[in-house]
Amino acid sequence: MNNTIHLVGISGSLRSQSYNTMLLNNLQQLLPAGMQLETLSIAALPLYNGDLDIPQIAERPAAVVAFRNAIAKADGLVIVSPEYNYSIPGVLKNAVDWASRGDDSPLLQKHVALMGVSNGRWGTVRMQMAFQPVFLALGMVAAKPEVMVANGKNVFDEAGKLVDEKIAQLITKQLTALKQSL
Ligand SMILES: Cc1cc2nc3c(=O)[nH]c(=O)nc-3n(C[C@H](O)[C@H](O)[C@H](O)COP(=O)(O)O)c2cc1C
Repeated sequence: MNNTIHLVGISGSLRSQSYNTMLLNNLQQLLPAGMQLETLSIAALPLYNGDLDIPQIAERPAAVVAFRNAIAKADGLVIVSPEYNYSIPGVLKNAVDWASRGDDSPLLQKHVALMGVSNGRWGTVRMQMAFQPVFLALGMVAAKPEVMVANGKNVFDEAGKLVDEKIAQLITKQLTALKQSL
């Protein structure tokens, strides 16, 4: 029997040089034993449209179906996101909204590791606060400690490797808590 815990991880930034995607790509090295991570892109998701979200009448868009299925198959979710205007980036909120509808929403009661990188001093604290009502609405459970990474340009080397040991330890702690909660 395969007891490996399967996580899916998404970045809230579509930028090719995104610090948040960089952090997401570093998580493979920081996973506790017995966990594996598959990264998903949210770039192909259309803008949310309720007319396209009626499974009884029409199949949801293919990218949405694939996104929802990938989350449904996962034991836990990882979200790594910037803060936009003190809140959740629109592209990420759009992805969450697509995955949130229906009794079969794969986000219901999902356990999640939320983290974020900003290029300023506050390390996405307000984005993470903005997620609290979303987690409440969906019964999602966020692992602690919180991981907020300030001054993104200082924590990676030129190859995109996370070089801040304290942040690496904090992330492993959070992912260990996620594992224990499952
Ligand atoms: C539309 C927009 C809004 C932003 N708002 C904030 C903000 O409220 N707080 C903050 O710390 N940084 C803000 N930033 C700066 C981001 O922290 C910075 O661009 C960061 O590098 C984005 O993450 P990424 O590198 O993963 O794309 C904003 C950037 C954009 C493009």
